[in-house]
Amino acid sequence: MKVAPSILGADFLHLEKDINMVSSAADWAHLDIMDGTFVPNISFGFPVVEHIGRICTVPMDAHLMVVHPERWFETLQKLGCSYVSFHLEAAGCKTGKYIKAIHKLGMKAGVAIDPDVPVEKLYKYIGKADFFLIMSVFAGFGGQKFIYEAVDRIIALREQIKKKGASTLIEVDGGVNTQNAVALKDAGADVLVAGSAVFKAEDPAAYIKELQSI
Ligand code: DX5
Ligand code: ZN
Repeated sequence: MKVAPSILGADFLHLEKDINMVSSAADWAHLDIMDGTFVPNISFGFPVVEHIGRICTVPMDAHLMVVHPERWFETLQKLGCSYVSFHLEAAGCKTGKYIKAIHKLGMKAGVAIDPDVPVEKLYKYIGKADFFLIMSVFAGFGGQKFIYEAVDRIIALREQIKKKGASTLIEVDGGVNTQNAVALKDAGADVLVAGSAVFKAEDPAAYIKELQSI
């Protein structure tokens, strides 16, 4: 199981310490980019991503919670991101086009959906997207309660991916912790994003290890 700590949960006054910890313990670093329009919150922007990129030694995974995600693909590539996801709700019928644009820049493309978007809407991007990001909370804030329906959505999506013989990864984001991680793994998730659970743990690196070994 891959673990991508959400930097939104990090200690922004000691970001260097947390990025070093993530670099040595985790698989990816998950970066939540919000615009205050697609979601009712603003997190951090590109100058912060640039600084993180200077010291981060694991792949950076940018999660765009913005309208017009396509405006930022090139910037994210220049800042060293390896994985970029955008929301289907923001992209609509341009989803396929955006996946291609991300590929053209040499990055892996992910399509994200909030809990109220039918999972079937992702099926036509199986084999096109490199990964799907299933939100297990409504995008916008860290520290929310895990929505259990995500497990059934992952089971359904995994079944379709298997049926089509594709290798698309499933990443799950929101309220993930050691209590729900087993169900997520059994359902077919490949990457766990965890913010609060990791950074509030007494020993964040040990907590990451625990999630990885599930
Ligand atoms: C929510 C973000 C998540 C969030 C996860 O909009 O996409 O990545 O930071 O944080 P926790 O694990 O605290 O729910
Ligand atoms: Zn996220």
